[in-house]
Amino acid sequence: MHLETERLIIRKFRPSDAVFILKLVNEPAFHANIGDKNIRDENDALAYIRKSGSESYARLGFEMYLVALKDSGASIGICGLLQREFLPHPDLGFAYASEFWNKGYGTEAAKAVISWATTTLGHSKLSAFTSTANGASLQLLKKSGFVSLGEQILPGREEKSHVLLWHAPAEKT
Ligand SMILES: CC(C)(COP(=O)(O)OP(=O)(O)OC[C@H]1O[C@@H](n2cnc3c(N)ncnc32)[C@H](O)[C@@H]1OP(=O)(O)O)[C@@H](O)C(=O)NCCC(=O)NCCS
Repeated sequence: MHLETERLIIRKFRPSDAVFILKLVNEPAFHANIGDKNIRDENDALAYIRKSGSESYARLGFEMYLVALKDSGASIGICGLLQREFLPHPDLGFAYASEFWNKGYGTEAAKAVISWATTTLGHSKLSAFTSTANGASLQLLKKSGFVSLGEQILPGREEKSHVLLWHAPAEKT
């Protein structure tokens, strides 16, 4: 998988991405909004890349991907699809290093991954969820075409999450 948008490259992880992943997953906003993955050094990050990529890809044909800037090559975040047991469709996941927020990169990558999921993987519906306090994530999802299904307590979570659904345009009524 390799996607290009106007400003971004979205591609499979490489071992050399471990340095960036280590930094990203230990940012305060990542811990607060996604969780602590217990990744403390580059070896942990490498194991995380390899484990999440290989298991997910073999089973489902999708995984999380690295997002980099086309012009400088700088790694800025991750975006991709995950499959949760408690959601009916693959769900869109994403996180960006804080210095790259609010430039539209998250929405640009999300739209590209959604388009790829539709045209290449054949998915006509995708799920997403976010904490109710995560206004930027909710805004990104709405700008990417997701519609709100309201707030729910999802399995394994104590707080309510905002749950959203994306339909391929032909299925919209
Ligand atoms: C959420 C996140 C992915 C957004 O990425 P991003 O690249 O900044 O997203 P975009 O720039 O495409 O869009 C963000 C939108 O949210 C808006 N926004 C920012 N902070 C906001 C807030 N507190 N409340 C409401 N909207 C907010 C921005 O103005 C922008 O909307 P606009 O373009 O209409 O002005 C990024 O903040 C992040 O990585 N956070 C930490 C990890 C995380 O929360 N991941 C999601 C878990 S579900």
